[in-house]
Amino acid sequence: MKTAQEFYVANLRTKEGQAAYAYLLDRGVSKDSINSFGLGLALPEWDRLARYMEAKRFGKPLLLEAGLIRRAKTGDKYYDNFRNRITFPIHDSFPRVLGFAARTYVPGDEGAKYVNSPTTPIYEKGRQLYGFHLARPHIKSGGVAFVVEGYLDAITLHAGGVKAAVAAMGTALTQTQVNSLKGTAKEVQLVFDADQAGIEASKRALPLLYNADLDGRVISLPAGHDPDSFVREYGSQAFYDLADKAPDLADYFIARLLDTNAKTMTGQGRIVSEMKEVLRQVPDAVKGQFLRNKLADRLGLSPELLTLREAEKFKRPPAAANKPKPADDYDRAAGELLVFMMVHRECLSLVDDWLISVWPEDRTKIVLKGVAKALKDNPDNPDVRPQGLGLDGDDHQMSALVSRAALSNRTYPADQTMAKAKAMIVKLRDRGKKKKDEEFTKAIKLAEAMGDEETVEKLLAAKRGQIDPAIPVGPR
Ligand code: CTP
Ligand code: MN
Repeated sequence: MKTAQEFYVANLRTKEGQAAYAYLLDRGVSKDSINSFGLGLALPEWDRLARYMEAKRFGKPLLLEAGLIRRAKTGDKYYDNFRNRITFPIHDSFPRVLGFAARTYVPGDEGAKYVNSPTTPIYEKGRQLYGFHLARPHIKSGGVAFVVEGYLDAITLHAGGVKAAVAAMGTALTQTQVNSLKGTAKEVQLVFDADQAGIEASKRALPLLYNADLDGRVISLPAGHDPDSFVREYGSQAFYDLADKAPDLADYFIARLLDTNAKTMTGQGRIVSEMKEVLRQVPDAVKGQFLRNKLADRLGLSPELLTLREAEKFKRPPAAANKPKPADDYDRAAGELLVFMMVHRECLSLVDDWLISVWPEDRTKIVLKGVAKALKDNPDNPDVRPQGLGLDGDDHQMSALVSRAALSNRTYPADQTMAKAKAMIVKLRDRGKKKKDEEFTKAIKLAEAMGDEETVEKLLAAKRGQIDPAIPVGPR
């Protein structure tokens, strides 16, 4: 990444880089900022970086893994991920380059405004704050971090003298990003564009900041401005004036709740339930009480009305837990395959090779393995009963699928069975993978919302370590 960064930086200083350099100056990015942020240029040819890197003895697999090149959809062709764009290196706090964002600067260019590094072993969206390595000493000395959305917002704030600015890089702020400010900032000022849906952004940010022990405030920019345009038009003193007057994050959130909900009974009900959603994500009792008191005060209610029942706090509503779960797509695909296995035994070896040998140990695999074994042990009179498979006794869903398969007699023409089995296996894998990914994402989000870094790390590692069932290992 360092070598690629050197190449991009050098490109911007060549004749080929003149237009890009002029674009940056024209946008109010000073020479100093270009240097300190390490802005560079990816040239238009499709393999300019790849050739440079390969001459430096970096092989294609490594360049792919780093997200610097991509493989074409067809054939064995590779091309540079960033082409004909201004490059913005994304650093960690050391600072090492972990990834890049690359912005178009050519008028009329039709592609996306930014192309970003994909997830790589060293880079993942939502974990870094852009510009933190430069802002850190300024955040430390002033106690305040300004969080903006875009790369160029952070850069022009720095250029204008607001050097405690970092960018969340377009995505909603994450707990990981907020936690990285924890040791350095005392207070975080979120800079919202005038047109931004302040209620959603502040609602999301509130638990993140509270759980990181950070005070929050909100700077709302006047209509039509983002931080970049505001600072260029009015200067950094005007920005600091806004910062001085910025309301507390909780007050801001409550004010927006009151703006958008009438002072009617149903309006108040909605306000209370929005606040409860936030409270559910703030486990600390003192902080929760602080929020309750604030809202009660504004609504003229007693804070007790905002108390969550204990059971409500970190669990789903109990109703959802008691109802039997409807069959999901993954289960339905497993049921289909079970029926097929019962009737078309010639496909058992395919199930073994393509599925059982590579599949992670879950309830679906337990059942497939058990049924396949029963069919092989006693082909004429297989003992296929859910009870013998080692399923969870409460798993009525899967038990029903097995019972149904045991009774099935649906047949396909003999010349179609292998193709049909393959299709069913692929379907099952895809659905299984999708379900697992969804489960991981949900768990990671929850752990992030709770500020549980350790669990987040573990889940991310487990997610990465998953066998990718979409890649067939092929039959023996
Ligand atoms: N973003 C992105 N990909 C896009 C568009 C936006 O990753 N196609 C992210 C970038 O982090 C960007 C941020 O969202 O910085 C804010 O978007 P926007 O305001 O459109 O971009 P700016 O960086 O402010 O660029 P400009 O002012 O030149 O429009
Ligand atoms: Mn902008």
